[in-house]
Amino acid sequence: MNTTTKPNRLLLALMGLLLAILLIGAGGFMWLNNNGDGNTALGIGGPFTLENGDGKPVTDKDFRGKYMLVYFGYTFCPDVCPTTLNAVADAMDKLGPAAAARLQPLFITIDPKRDTPALVKQYVAAFGPNIVGLTGTPEQIAQIAREYRVYYAEHRTGPGPNDYSMDHSSVLYLMSPTGAFIAPVRADESGEEIAANLKKLMG
Ligand code: NI
Repeated sequence: MNTTTKPNRLLLALMGLLLAILLIGAGGFMWLNNNGDGNTALGIGGPFTLENGDGKPVTDKDFRGKYMLVYFGYTFCPDVCPTTLNAVADAMDKLGPAAAARLQPLFITIDPKRDTPALVKQYVAAFGPNIVGLTGTPEQIAQIAREYRVYYAEHRTGPGPNDYSMDHSSVLYLMSPTGAFIAPVRADESGEEIAANLKKLMG
């Protein structure tokens, strides 16, 4: 890392933190002010077509009837993604079988160049049986990232084609069984805290 990249990284981290604070602040506000259908003025979320771990097309409509807990990351992530997915798997246990059956955690890669369907499938399976991993074309991923206001960018670490990491925002999005955004859920908390937040939001 040279000296010019350091301020950029710091700036990105600060932007990510600011975004998370804004989302969480807005989520609390909307939670108090919505009528129960989860529709909000922020317009987070929307239709998507992606690929599941078997390379089959999947759309948002395939998850209707369940709450979705959506997280964006990538399988080569050194720390934040595995920590978050561990916490999500733990939260599913802490919710208990009845509540967990109403919730579908989704891990959507923002590194579609490297994250093939098979790789994403194998990766999420390591955290537990409940998380569905999705990938897609770079265009499909760009579209859903826009819909969910997800920030992601390649960060070069060397000259080779795979010498990069991904900077990305880290927020869990709780979506209603009809696909509407309910609230952001902090991704940097324990499984127990995430489960407690979900219980409140899922009613
Ligand atoms: Ni990550």
